[in-house]
Amino acid sequence: MTTTQILIIAFTGISLLLAAAVFTVAWRRGRLGGEIGRPGGEIGRLEGKIGRGDDSEVGRLDKAAVNRDKAAARLTGEAQPEPVAVAVVSEPPPPDPLTTKPEISAEEYDVTRRQFFNRGILAVFGIFLAQFGIASLAFMWPKLRAGGFGSKVNIGKLADIQAQIFLPDGRVQPLFVSAAQSYILPFQADQEQSSFAGLPVVAGGLIALWQRCVHLGCRVPPCESSQGFECPCHGSKYNYHGEYQDGPAPRNLDRFVVSVNDADELIVDTGSVIQTARSTTKTAQYPQGPSCI
Ligand code: FES
Repeated sequence: MTTTQILIIAFTGISLLLAAAVFTVAWRRGRLGGEIGRPGGEIGRLEGKIGRGDDSEVGRLDKAAVNRDKAAARLTGEAQPEPVAVAVVSEPPPPDPLTTKPEISAEEYDVTRRQFFNRGILAVFGIFLAQFGIASLAFMWPKLRAGGFGSKVNIGKLADIQAQIFLPDGRVQPLFVSAAQSYILPFQADQEQSSFAGLPVVAGGLIALWQRCVHLGCRVPPCESSQGFECPCHGSKYNYHGEYQDGPAPRNLDRFVVSVNDADELIVDTGSVIQTARSTTKTAQYPQGPSCI
């Protein structure tokens, strides 16, 4: 699994956690808002009892307080004032037809302003997540497709490749394959005496170097006159085997695992990147002429 795929999976996981947290907060706020706003809610029920003034919980609480005061007075011997008679209106006044508002059903009343905003927040996050998912799929799609970068790329017949990279005057010209983001080059040195001993990076006498500079990722072009790769960004230089020569690059150019199939075709596995430390033993001469940068 590549670093990019790991980052995408991590980002997706964090986004889902955030969305779940926002959903939970919005849902709880919606429940509380509904409880406050709904006529049948607990708060509405208490308000109704207070307003009616009949034998409600509030009335019972008041009576309990009066009885408690009386008992305290009996114990202390203090005279108690006669309770003031309170007229209890058992029937509410008839509604004024001019000011009476039409009845609102419980369902209509349920959509409060708070709930409206909560649903708006959920909708925005839903759209964001959908867009993020589509963008991630679009980003990874070429890697999932067989033959694209991130998978195995068939470069072609060995004979055809060699005909393109060996010039008549004996010099070498890298073959750039955009589908593999690679430079194909010959590797005719003793692999066991190089920095690549034991690594599956040479097949059919060819190697596939990733075009990306290992310093900060600029594309590194080949330089025909010096027979090497020279990065225009910060001046890192590599020979035609991608071995570090100069500049801020921390290692050799990265390379891909290569193989040859039954049809004598070179296969570059761009999903398998091999990194190697700066070569101390060089297997290709550099420079062989003037530098390009
Ligand atoms: S990106 Fe190539 S030297 Fe810095």
